[in-house]
Amino acid sequence: MNGKKWNVAMIGLGFGAEFIPIYQAHPQANVYAICQRNAEKMNVVGDRFQIEKRYTRYDDVLKDPNVDFVHINSPIPDHALMSLAALKAGKHVMCTVPMATTIDECRQIVEMVKKTGLKYMMAETVVYAREYLFIKELYKQGELGKIQHLAASHPQDMDGWPDYWERMIPMHYATHVVSPCLGLVDGKAEYVSCFGSGTVRDDIAQKSGNKFAVESCHIKVKDSDITAHIWRFLYDVARQYRESFDVYGTKKSFEWTLVEGEPHVLHTAKKPEHEIASKIEVPDFAHLLPEPIRKFTKSIQDADHLSFIQGGGHGGSHPHLVNEMLSALSENRDPAPNAVTAANWTCVGICAHESALKGGEIVRLPEFTLG
Ligand SMILES: NC(=O)c1ccc[n+]([C@@H]2O[C@H](COP(=O)([O-])OP(=O)(O)OC[C@H]3O[C@@H](n4cnc5c(N)ncnc54)[C@H](O)[C@@H]3O)[C@@H](O)[C@H]2O)c1
Repeated sequence: MNGKKWNVAMIGLGFGAEFIPIYQAHPQANVYAICQRNAEKMNVVGDRFQIEKRYTRYDDVLKDPNVDFVHINSPIPDHALMSLAALKAGKHVMCTVPMATTIDECRQIVEMVKKTGLKYMMAETVVYAREYLFIKELYKQGELGKIQHLAASHPQDMDGWPDYWERMIPMHYATHVVSPCLGLVDGKAEYVSCFGSGTVRDDIAQKSGNKFAVESCHIKVKDSDITAHIWRFLYDVARQYRESFDVYGTKKSFEWTLVEGEPHVLHTAKKPEHEIASKIEVPDFAHLLPEPIRKFTKSIQDADHLSFIQGGGHGGSHPHLVNEMLSALSENRDPAPNAVTAANWTCVGICAHESALKGGEIVRLPEFTLG
């Protein structure tokens, strides 16, 4: 299968449009089609990137035998339905986070992937961001020592974002905090305990069915003595956007900066107190990529998209995501994260909210996510 160019159809062209020039530059991809319901907006993107095949109906994309895989960047409530429909139609799937918003949908996707043998990848940006790649490298080289604790936060004020966010529950969009904790130690979440804190304004509480402003969760990592702590909010808390990840080891610890754009901190044990903390520059990991897409770790097409204003370019992760999906297809292996891992990461948030509703009771992850 080497040398094959995979035909991708891009579904949803807000955040999704960002990936088009990366696929176009990748030696193993061809941006065969684009799809968005609004034809006028779609034509702007199609003309800009010179893509001929344009669909306003997702079903028509799935009927097109030339489409090898779909890359889904539609609103969250559509992720599971669209992924399942694509798998049923015999297409491989790359889908932005989260995989789904219910455990049953996650189960259906995992089962469909097993049944069809097709590839499914959840496009989690955090585990391909330069900070994560840097920490993982330090860990693999033994520089951190034994990991003792992991922590991650994702505060983000969603006022001004598309209105489907008002119907979201904070922990139902938690993969940016779950994934680095579990990914670093190659672990699965076994059970969680989560507390809700504070309250959101009445209209948000009514639309989402969730009253908590903040959700704060502990995750027990399976077959390990490690616990991770994650927290999230979407509305009504004063804090700058942050997608942080802290790792505490016996030899070294990494702490994310408190203020976006400032240096992160590396702590080294057993030094004189004032020398323990040092501010560091995290290197880029473009060298892991095929040469034609290396430049995309540092460039953003639409810097005005809210996810870049608040998301800071997602740590240069976009070309890594594209390359991982294409490499997995070409090598006929599972992409990372595959369906089971994506389900475990996604279900942590779903189980966490369930736990918060029960005052912090322990909720176990479903068996099908532990494999
Ligand atoms: N760091 C990250 O991983 C990250 C960052 C930003 C956005 N996202 C995800 O990307 C997705 C899209 O985000 P966005 O900000 O671009 O949202 P958006 O609402 O601005 O754009 C959604 C796009 O999907 C299209 N769409 C909606 N329904 C469709 C349908 N039935 N068929 C075809 N196209 C359809 C819309 O026309 C639009 O182009 C969200 O799920 C979001 O969670 C992830």
